[in-house]
Amino acid sequence: MAKSKIDYWSESSQGYDKSVDSALGGNIRPLINENLKLEGHLGTVVEFGCGTGYFTKTLAGKAEHVVATDFSDDMLRIAQTQLEGFDNVEFKNENWQHTTFADETFDTIFAGFVIPCVDDKVQALKESQRILKPAGRIIIASPNILLLSRFRLFQFLCRNVLAWRGKLPPVSFRSVSELLDETTFTVESLDVMKDLSNPSSAPVEYAKLLKS
Ligand SMILES: C[S@@+](CC[C@H](N)C(=O)[O-])C[C@H]1O[C@@H](n2cnc3c(N)ncnc32)[C@H](O)[C@@H]1O
Repeated sequence: MAKSKIDYWSESSQGYDKSVDSALGGNIRPLINENLKLEGHLGTVVEFGCGTGYFTKTLAGKAEHVVATDFSDDMLRIAQTQLEGFDNVEFKNENWQHTTFADETFDTIFAGFVIPCVDDKVQALKESQRILKPAGRIIIASPNILLLSRFRLFQFLCRNVLAWRGKLPPVSFRSVSELLDETTFTVESLDVMKDLSNPSSAPVEYAKLLKS
């Protein structure tokens, strides 16, 4: 893993929540969080790329136990502070592409806004297959700006340059459905969520995939 990617997220960690919400559109993470709240009991959960712990709180309320992971220790430190008092959450430095978890450990994997950050996205999904219990599932929320029209994409990019103060995140976009062709997950549902009040905000693919 290129050290510079970890450095990027570590250096962004202090202002991350403000930057990401102004970059994606302020209603986007709340929209996904509301959807996550509608999920049933999640059992034993691992979250990849937990960042500052925005979704971890919701996961903690729906799970027996959550392992919140990130490859940036600075992000993990902030998440730990945000989740003080949640006694069913532990924090661990993990790279989604190659984790230290044993085979068939988790009922649910959650990754919010992480797929674009990962170099080898197919490898991360294969690793997810390995550590999920039989009949386990992964919930992915992944922004896909390739779904924006050229004009809206231009607006999105301009907003991002400002939001990240000219230092754009190291990301690359692929649609979840395209990635699925290279894995053996079965699709339980795959929806595209949009903030209709802000046409240049990032459309988000919300996918629930079953281990097969
Ligand atoms: C865009 S942020 C999303 C944070 C959080 N899930 C949220 O939605 O606010 C991406 C996070 O994933 C982490 N990350 C990126 N690539 C990773 C990888 N390969 N393994 C583990 N964490 C990764 C970054 O450090 C960063 O905290």
